[in-house]
Amino acid sequence: MALYGLLGDIHGNREALQAVLERLDAMGVSRLLCVGDVIGYNADPDECAARLRMREALCIAGNHDLIGTGRLGFERCSNKAMHALKRTRRSLLPETAAWVRSLPSHATVEDRYLLTHGGVRDVQQYMTQPKHIVENVAYLRRDFPGRSVCFFGHTHEQKVFEVAGTEVRDLELSSGCVMLREDREYFVNPGSVDASRKRHAKLAQFAVLDSREHSVAFGEVAYDDAATEDKARDHGYRIEPWRDRLYDIGRRITAPLSRS
Ligand SMILES: [Fe+2]
Ligand SMILES: [Fe+2]
Repeated sequence: MALYGLLGDIHGNREALQAVLERLDAMGVSRLLCVGDVIGYNADPDECAARLRMREALCIAGNHDLIGTGRLGFERCSNKAMHALKRTRRSLLPETAAWVRSLPSHATVEDRYLLTHGGVRDVQQYMTQPKHIVENVAYLRRDFPGRSVCFFGHTHEQKVFEVAGTEVRDLELSSGCVMLREDREYFVNPGSVDASRKRHAKLAQFAVLDSREHSVAFGEVAYDDAATEDKARDHGYRIEPWRDRLYDIGRRITAPLSRS
């Protein structure tokens, strides 16, 4: 039984990760649980991976971790994500790449909590709606019996879905804290540490799991987004308009070939 810091979708954003870690340290968490996408999109994948490694975070692989280390292709990526991931592949230190390659697809905590990145069986699935939870709770029961709370990432949005039998409820998070019932199952997203692709609030998100109380509290913290963005642009992680159009043309040419 412990207080855990839940985080994910860091995407090489050192400034946002630093802000979240300072907040979690102040709250006295004893261990970090990370739902993947440590690298990809921003300019500091090595530093972010090193910080998690140093703190012995329990971390699983997200789709960006798989693509950034060549274990998954670019087929389901947007142009801007693909461009940044190609840049990430060229820059990763060997020790970072080795650590990222070693990350498992799932992890279990205290025999009742599961970490997954996207869907339970598809790392690139976006679980945004109750119908996705209906599908994935069946996978959870079959593949990981006894795990009643599934922490996930990938959608970059703080979220709690509560499951009672076949009923799924999208819970209101306005209070910032959710008490988890023993007779329910849950799918919980702690949000995204990286806010680079968010249009408005550039806030790093996280959550805290209290396994003694069986509760999850959500938080967010400001960070220096301008510094992250300047570094990403200066180091070639942001796609130029001409290259974006070129990728579009390439996809149009190869799509009919891959269908035939
Ligand atoms: Fe992500
Ligand atoms: Fe992802």
